[in-house]
Amino acid sequence: MCAKRLDLQGKTCVITGATSGIGEVAAERLAAMGARLVLIARDRARGEAALRRLRARAPGAAHRVLYADLMLIAEVKRVAAEIAAQERRIDILVNNAGAIFSYRRLTAEGLERTFALNHMAYFVLSHGLREPLLAAAPARVVNTASAAHQSAQLRFEDLQFARAYNGVSAYQRSKLCNILFTRELSRRWVGKGVTVNCLHPGFVATRFGDNSGGLFQTVLKVAKPVGAISPEEGAKTITYLASSPAVEGKSGGYYYKNKLATPTKEAQSDADAKRLWDISARLSGVGTA
Ligand SMILES: NC(=O)c1ccc[n+]([C@@H]2O[C@H](COP(=O)([O-])OP(=O)(O)OC[C@H]3O[C@@H](n4cnc5c(N)ncnc54)[C@H](OP(=O)(O)O)[C@@H]3O)[C@@H](O)[C@H]2O)c1
Repeated sequence: MCAKRLDLQGKTCVITGATSGIGEVAAERLAAMGARLVLIARDRARGEAALRRLRARAPGAAHRVLYADLMLIAEVKRVAAEIAAQERRIDILVNNAGAIFSYRRLTAEGLERTFALNHMAYFVLSHGLREPLLAAAPARVVNTASAAHQSAQLRFEDLQFARAYNGVSAYQRSKLCNILFTRELSRRWVGKGVTVNCLHPGFVATRFGDNSGGLFQTVLKVAKPVGAISPEEGAKTITYLASSPAVEGKSGGYYYKNKLATPTKEAQSDADAKRLWDISARLSGVGTA
């Protein structure tokens, strides 16, 4: 199977959320195809452990890990600048780190944390790595979204959920943001040789939601052993979008099980994608190009 895929020898892949779950499996698969991995992790012990696992699979490969709390725009900018200074070319960027939070809290920068981590980090990191991605064209950006977007509607007047916060709704909305961001980034970058796609991995038995607190944590604990697929299964569409020749040149799509899928009407709104982009650019000070 791997042999039929794009040979990733000589390619560099930056990935977030590779210390756990589907990101961890995707990183290992991409490394097995020959890619050199640059991980962005928040926790040193977990980052070093992920690096050890990658090195054990492909001794000699110059994988590395950098650290940042992706909930903070300043941290995302810093780590992106560090990577961009060291990597002349980035062939693949996988924006994957994400979480759900039962209780509303603001980051030190004043953003609601679901919106900050699940959407703003994708936005700011992609921009911070723009030059090395363009330099590697044809390059790929892969964004982990979710079918959870299906119940979401954007409320532009209250993106930070200041009123009537609900962790599940905030999560669903952030995943709608992932699809709209994919749409707008694709529109802007595909002509420059960088394709941008997103995916739903399925309901996967990872650490997702384990520390979210509240009722949702309990519901997930019961539901995962019954209904969830393995991280190996859940990682497949990330790996596919990052490496398969079948999606060479294809951009702006939402995929599930390695197939193009149709997201909701809200997720197909070019006007909302543009409006979200403009707000994200204003909040972060990047994304005007
Ligand atoms: N599991 C599902 O059923 C499911 C379904 C649809 C979509 N998704 C999406 O899949 C993606 C990956 O989730 P998963 O299921 O693999 O969950 P997971 O096992 O909890 O992995 C989440 C990853 O994100 C990292 N992360 C969390 N907060 C971070 C922060 N502030 N800064 C930097 N890294 C951070 C975690 O790091 P640590 O290792 O340090 O915790 C971990 O590597 C998410 O975007 C999620 O929304 C999951």
